[in-house]
Amino acid sequence: MLSGRLAVITGATGGIGLETARKFVERGATVLLCSRKLVRAEKAAGEIGSGAIAEQLDITSSDSVRRFVAKVSRKYGGLDVLVNNAGYPFDRKIWYKEFHRVSDDEMRRVANVDFMGTVRISQACIPLMMKRGGAIISISSTPAIAGHTEGAPYTLAKSAIIAMTKHIALEYGRKNIRAFVLALGNIATEATFNSMTPSEREKAANENAMKRWGNPKEIANVIANLASDDFAFATGNTIIVDGGTVLR
Ligand SMILES: NC(=O)c1ccc[n+]([C@@H]2O[C@H](COP(=O)([O-])OP(=O)(O)OC[C@H]3O[C@@H](n4cnc5c(N)ncnc54)[C@H](OP(=O)(O)O)[C@@H]3O)[C@@H](O)[C@H]2O)c1
Repeated sequence: MLSGRLAVITGATGGIGLETARKFVERGATVLLCSRKLVRAEKAAGEIGSGAIAEQLDITSSDSVRRFVAKVSRKYGGLDVLVNNAGYPFDRKIWYKEFHRVSDDEMRRVANVDFMGTVRISQACIPLMMKRGGAIISISSTPAIAGHTEGAPYTLAKSAIIAMTKHIALEYGRKNIRAFVLALGNIATEATFNSMTPSEREKAANENAMKRWGNPKEIANVIANLASDDFAFATGNTIIVDGGTVLR
């Protein structure tokens, strides 16, 4: 159960973020459902109903992060859960570029959301969790574990999130702040499944032992469980949720 908990979910207007917000509210939490565009957040929060509160947040902007966290501190005085779900959109031009051809700017654009954005909002939220403890759950990807032949900027940024998670777990464990990171396989969302050709979809489905795409609801369940007291004595873990692609 997540009754009485306050959670921030970044990039929560669609896909995995939206399903996670829905699951958290279902389990009794209050969710600050964040988007770069307030109207989008309001629409998504409206779909969920009471318990979901729309907020504007751009994790690439230090000012936006500062303003957002100051507001949370003023209004609520603390925070229990941060879900780092926001990610740079799938961009074919960057994804299919060979590593040696990726420009500084392309590397920076991806890193500024997936890596630095995640770091920025995590740093800002930690002081809000200092008094009563909390959980920071971030979303990485299987290439960060196993490597991949495409999407180098994404893989590098998502790998950094795994390192950040271990760091937070070790530095803030004594404050009862837990940190987890999910390494996801192919999860069917607007950003992935809906942007692919039928043959790309089939190829992706065949990458794992279960021969299918994951569903955002299946990810939301994992995140909600990690945030709950069921995982009170676990921290620093990378949880692979990929239908059996990366087996270690
Ligand atoms: N789906 C998969 O197969 C898969 C696999 C592995 C990992 N992941 C990761 O899981 C997360 C969610 O994926 P998804 O498929 O549900 O993708 P998605 O629909 O693209 O969600 C990502 C969200 O990030 C937000 N965002 C982008 N830039 C932002 C910024 N600067 N500040 C704040 N928010 C920003 C966007 O929200 P707004 O436009 O509303 O601001 C967007 O809704 C991502 O981190 C993704 O990399 C997904």
